[in-house]
Amino acid sequence: MTAALELKDVTKAYRQGDNRLEVLRGVNLVIQPGEVIALVAPSGAGKTTLLQIAGLLDRPDSGDVLLGGDAVGKLDDASRSRKRRGSLGFIFQFHHLLPEFTALENVIVPQTIAGLSKGEAKSRGQELLAMLGLADRMSHKPSALSGGEQQRVAIARALANAPKVVLADEPTGNLDHATAIAVTERLLQLSHGAGVGMLVATHNPELAGMMDRTVRMEDGILVNG
Ligand SMILES: Nc1ncnc2c1ncn2[C@@H]1O[C@H](COP(=O)(O)OP(=O)(O)OP(=O)(O)O)[C@@H](O)[C@H]1O
Ligand SMILES: [Mg+2]
Repeated sequence: MTAALELKDVTKAYRQGDNRLEVLRGVNLVIQPGEVIALVAPSGAGKTTLLQIAGLLDRPDSGDVLLGGDAVGKLDDASRSRKRRGSLGFIFQFHHLLPEFTALENVIVPQTIAGLSKGEAKSRGQELLAMLGLADRMSHKPSALSGGEQQRVAIARALANAPKVVLADEPTGNLDHATAIAVTERLLQLSHGAGVGMLVATHNPELAGMMDRTVRMEDGILVNG
């Protein structure tokens, strides 16, 4: 089976004044279709850095990212954006919803950019929002939603273009315990049902325990955990 996403010897360092901070020192990971992997590491260890490289939002210093078997590290920015729009869903640590748009519009926008008809985008958006418990919040703007509701809209948006891979940066960090469990169950169902590979950063051991397996970041590499 071709991996949904593969990271090969990925390194990344940041320069801070005279210092070089080596955040990723040779990360290797294979995410199969329909597999949900928990990414666990302390604050500052490099989870967001790793997710942004895996999500083609940033480039590694060395190593490569393979999406559906294709190496994408050396593609130009336009090709990477196309890949990102076509195959990847990203749930950010901070949700970045568009304030002028309703919950449903926020979910629909990326799909219509990707070329889906408005009608199709709308029905898929409604279905996703309902699945995440927001059936009666679709016409609310972000300012009229709670933090947890906003985060769930962001999750629906990440799933809207039927991605092959979802990268999630503490997607349930703003949710209460029961809602976090329910949303994680939905993510697992979606992944297993639609064959979506997911990498989910979380600080919560209970949520990590629900996922198919866990990797821990230690000194810039991933170990099974
Ligand atoms: N653009 C940047 N320039 C310099 N240093 C950075 C940059 N982005 C992140 N860092 C540093 O790299 C390290 C890893 O950051 P990262 O955001 O990946 O951690 P994290 O595991 O996501 O943490 P958290 O759990 O707090 O979100 C941190 O020490 C951070 O200060
Ligand atoms: Mg982070």
